[in-house]
Amino acid sequence: MTDYTVEFVSTGDTITVSDKETILSRCLEEGIAQEYSCRVGMCLACSAKIVEGDVTQPAARGLSERESEEYALTCMARPLSDLKIDRGKYPPSIEADGGQPAPADD
Ligand code: FES
Repeated sequence: MTDYTVEFVSTGDTITVSDKETILSRCLEEGIAQEYSCRVGMCLACSAKIVEGDVTQPAARGLSERESEEYALTCMARPLSDLKIDRGKYPPSIEADGGQPAPADD
């Protein structure tokens, strides 16, 4: 198990997240006010823009492959490096669709 630092750029909050847990689960344990709803990678409520670093999120079905390179669904995403993320930022597909989640790539 490896621990990584996750910094929320908008607030400066920093937490430690292992590569075995999701960013959201650690936020909930640490009392960080990260939004979420479905917790299964579909609704995008927990989206954050990846400013720096890498995550793995193979079950983030609400994101296209390209979106998953720039955005993390924190309910599914586990860190692969130290991270800087900007929570409450959503992929352009959801912004352009009046707030409706993008269809999953199947
Ligand atoms: S809470 Fe729904 S995608 Fe993360």
